[in-house]
Amino acid sequence: MSRIHASIPRAQETSELFDDPFSFLARARASLGDVFVIREDKALFSRADDCAGVVAVFGPVNYQSVLTDADVFSQPISAAQHLSLPQNLINLNRGLHSMRGEQHDQHQRLLMNVLTERGNEGRLQIVQAGLEKFVQEWQYDQQIPLLAEMRRLTLGLSTRLLFGEQYEESAQLAELAAQYFHARRAVASTFKHPGKTTRVKLVGLGTSLDESLRRYIDWSRGQKTNHVDGLLRTITSIETFSDDEIVAHCNVLFMSSLEPTAVTLTWALLILSQLPALRRRLREDHEQKLLDGTINETLRLLTPNALMTRLTTHATTLNSFPIPESCELLLSPFLAHREPERFPRPREFMPERWHGPKPSPFVYFPFGGGAHYCAGRSLATQMMKTSLAFLLRRFDLVLAFDQEVDWRIDIVLLPGNDPLMSIRKPEATSMTGGKLIGPARELIDLKS
Ligand code: HEM
Repeated sequence: MSRIHASIPRAQETSELFDDPFSFLARARASLGDVFVIREDKALFSRADDCAGVVAVFGPVNYQSVLTDADVFSQPISAAQHLSLPQNLINLNRGLHSMRGEQHDQHQRLLMNVLTERGNEGRLQIVQAGLEKFVQEWQYDQQIPLLAEMRRLTLGLSTRLLFGEQYEESAQLAELAAQYFHARRAVASTFKHPGKTTRVKLVGLGTSLDESLRRYIDWSRGQKTNHVDGLLRTITSIETFSDDEIVAHCNVLFMSSLEPTAVTLTWALLILSQLPALRRRLREDHEQKLLDGTINETLRLLTPNALMTRLTTHATTLNSFPIPESCELLLSPFLAHREPERFPRPREFMPERWHGPKPSPFVYFPFGGGAHYCAGRSLATQMMKTSLAFLLRRFDLVLAFDQEVDWRIDIVLLPGNDPLMSIRKPEATSMTGGKLIGPARELIDLKS
């Protein structure tokens, strides 16, 4: 195994890395510069067996180099592969993330066409109908767990948008895909091989999901094509894709659409619960400029993709430092989005900062950048904007009482405990709710 060159500065005290990776990385960067070694013994997130070590990378020029050249800086292997799960389970996750070169570019082009193809009108109606159905379960003065509810919301919206409403089993299929996602994440996040019972459960869920997706694909192909509903149905008829590839794309697109969207909506509503004046202004904001700013600002400060990793496929250089083969690179959009030269008063939640010119793609990149740029960005943005505007118009969501909320990283950056909210009438805005306290509150500065 190649070693990391001695010319790259080394971080000394790394014990804080696991407790508070952002503080650790920010401090090390301040003293060591834009490229430094975190560890040399083994991988951190990439699961690479023969890993040369982990190098932290900062700065827009370096982000651009790493994210653009996907042949040299590749996506790490999937957990299913690492855990030697059966072939059908490994296949379920072989979506765009794990494709490379020509194949990736060709599939990316076709999928992007599908995901942005449908006119906004049609999609908007689907989202509105989904929101109406979702809020049927909400009543004024009820208390709700926010993250669980946002997961229920995105599950409902994504099911309608992606699988469509004509397939009778869409809801069961979507539920199964969501269950498999959570089971797989629980296994992947422990860094340990799963015990026998967990493995059997995961294989059972994955096998059912694989079979259900194949039934969906058969059904979709048997339908007339002129009234296709559900974005994934268009994918089932792309002739250059094999059945295995279609199964993987359907699964990956669906699961990618759930968690980051649910988590972003959760953070946005949690922040807004502390800012009654902003909630009122958003309700009156007809141009939607403030709404865009609120979403952009949430994605800046509490970006779901807070840490990213890449693995070098061969030796290369970065910022003139030699980087060996099989070296894990760690990037932090969370910290990139808090550079004071690019975002003055970086910790402050200021939707108005988005009224000016947009930052460049490697300064602000909540949807990634370069080769593996998010395929669902426009869909996600539309889902989040429509949902937030709808919920704010109908309800005033406040914290049910003073609550300490933690944060954690489990693929995405999410609340460590689910905040309990009260649903109020919008006119009752002057009634303030509970105060947000604890580690999540400390990640941002809020001026009420
Ligand atoms: C707030 C919502 C979302 C956020 C913050 C988000 C973020 C991201 C990020 C950061 C990446 C790049 C990952 C990397 O380079 O390592 C990515 C890739 C991807 N996203 Fe999203 N995403 C969101 C919603 C969606 C939705 C709704 C879909 C699908 C309908 C989707 C599908 C994908 C796919 C397929 C990729 C892989 C692209 C490739 O490898 O070429 N995402 N997303």
